[in-house]
Amino acid sequence: MSTIVILTGAGISAESGLETFRADTGLWAKHRVEDVATPEGFSRDPALVTGFYNERRRLAAAARPNAAHRALARLEAEYDGEVLVVTQNVDDLHERGGTQNLIHMHGGLNTALCAACDHRWPAPAKMHAGDACPACSAPAARPDIVWFGEMPYQMDRIFDVLGRAHIFAAIGSSGNVYPAAGFVAEAARAGAHTLEINLEPSSVGAQFDEALLGPATQTVPAWVDSILRGA
Ligand code: OAD
Repeated sequence: MSTIVILTGAGISAESGLETFRADTGLWAKHRVEDVATPEGFSRDPALVTGFYNERRRLAAAARPNAAHRALARLEAEYDGEVLVVTQNVDDLHERGGTQNLIHMHGGLNTALCAACDHRWPAPAKMHAGDACPACSAPAARPDIVWFGEMPYQMDRIFDVLGRAHIFAAIGSSGNVYPAAGFVAEAARAGAHTLEINLEPSSVGAQFDEALLGPATQTVPAWVDSILRGA
């Protein structure tokens, strides 16, 4: 059975109206990573960090999946083989676009995590710093986001599937954050054909066999059509 692994980053949700991180006017131009995306930042100012992700949750809920998200769902439904989407995104546009076989390696906005007992539950629209965990009652609720310095989720499963991938595509990912930026090398070692789909070559663009440059809502449906045609 043929296996396709697709890594997605913020670029796939850009045309749904969600800001990317590293654009000149992106999220990391307006917020300090150390303040809002590290465990130390959360310890220093939990209200600031909780508020930052409340705003991301609000904007994600108002956004709609675009043609690129929907095309990946069509690929999964119609491809005669295994399709796994691994996303760095914390929005839920892939699942709302119809993708089922999906790993949120950097966590998600719609769950809360207890820092004391690791229990997860559906996040309310607005979390508050010090919310109590419904399982252990500790006032230790935090956004279920993998921050810098923390281990991304499901890495064993991701590397297992990458090790038998026939095709690896990275869509809208800048290639600046590891371990995701290392997936292309891992897939290439496994003998996969590798393809980068982005507005411009990423930091690891030279490692891919092929590039498809342009906005994801155009390039991704065209690529999915070509795969399903067997081209
Ligand atoms: P970045 O903001 O670093 O990169 C977004 C990429 O999407 C860039 O390479 C853009 O060229 C591309 N892009 C923008 N608009 C596009 C479009 N319409 N079509 C196709 N490509 C487009 O976002 P990520 O690479 O996802 O982690 O960032 C990786 C991680 O860094 C995030 O998960 C987040 C961040 O810090 C954490 O917060 C832990």
